Amino acid sequence: MKGMGEYTKHFKMMGLIVLVFLLSACQTSQQTPSQKQDNIEPNTNTKILVLYFSMPEDEANNTSDSNAQASIVVRNNTVYGNVESVANIIHETMGGDIIEIETNQTYPLDHEKLVEVVSQEKEAQARPELTQNFNFLNTYDTIFLGYPIWWYDLPMPLYSLLEQVDLSGITIIPFTVHGGSGFSTTQETLQTLQPEATISNQGFSLSRNNMLQAKDSVEDWLNATFNLGASS
Ligand SMILES: Cc1cc2nc3c(=O)[nH]c(=O)nc-3n(C[C@H](O)[C@H](O)[C@H](O)COP(=O)(O)O)c2cc1C
Repeated sequence: MKGMGEYTKHFKMMGLIVLVFLLSACQTSQQTPSQKQDNIEPNTNTKILVLYFSMPEDEANNTSDSNAQASIVVRNNTVYGNVESVANIIHETMGGDIIEIETNQTYPLDHEKLVEVVSQEKEAQARPELTQNFNFLNTYDTIFLGYPIWWYDLPMPLYSLLEQVDLSGITIIPFTVHGGSGFSTTQETLQTLQPEATISNQGFSLSRNNMLQAKDSVEDWLNATFNLGASS
C-alpha cells in the first residue's frame, strides 16, 4: 500500500490537502453534510443503476515500490478494479442496471505512471472526455455511484460526468474504495455538482485493505441500510 507520503511528493497543494484530509478523517464513512434523507425502496418499482469509475492497476507492471498494493481483485480468473468489484456486488444484490464510466483516453496501468498522469490532470483541472453520453441518467430513481478516491477528491472523469448531466430529484448513493481517506470531501463535492439531487448519507466506504471482506461488508451494508430482509 502506498503511504500518504508517496502521494504527497507528487502533489504541490500538499499543505491544503493534508488539512482537508485531517478534517475529513474525523468523519465516519457514512456521513454527509446533506440534510436530505433517503427514500429508497428497492423492492418496489424503483429504477436502480449502479454507475462506477474504476482503474485496475497492473501489479506485474508495478516495479517501483515493493510495498505497492495494486488495486485489483481477481475473481473467476478475471481482473477487476476495487470499485468495480464492489459495484458488481451491489448490482448482484440490488439488481437494476450497471454501467462503467469510461474515458476516451487510456490511463496507465502502472501505479507510478498513473499517479503522475492523475497529478497533472488534477493540476490542470482536466475534464477527460467520456466514451458515452449520459443524458439518460435522469430516467433512474436511484443511482449507486462508485469511484476511487484520487488525491482526496473525486477522479476527474467524475467531474466530466457530473458537469454534463442533470440529476435533479435522483437519489445518489455514493460508494468508494480508498487507501485511507474514507470519502474525504467527495460527498460534499457531489452535492455541489448536483445541488438538486439527494446525496444519500448512507453511502459505503471501504478501505482497499479490506477488499477480502468486501462481499460480506457490502451485503451487510445493503441489508442494514435498505432493510432487504435477506442475506445472499
Ligand atoms: C492517483 C491516485 C491517487 C490516490 N489518492 C488517494 C487518496 O488521496 N486517498 C486515498 O485514500 N487513496 C488514494 N488512492 C488509492 C485509491 O483510492 C485506491 O487504491 C482505490 O481502491 C482504487 O480503486 P480502483 O481499483 O477501483 O481504481 C489513490 C490512487 C491513485 C492511483
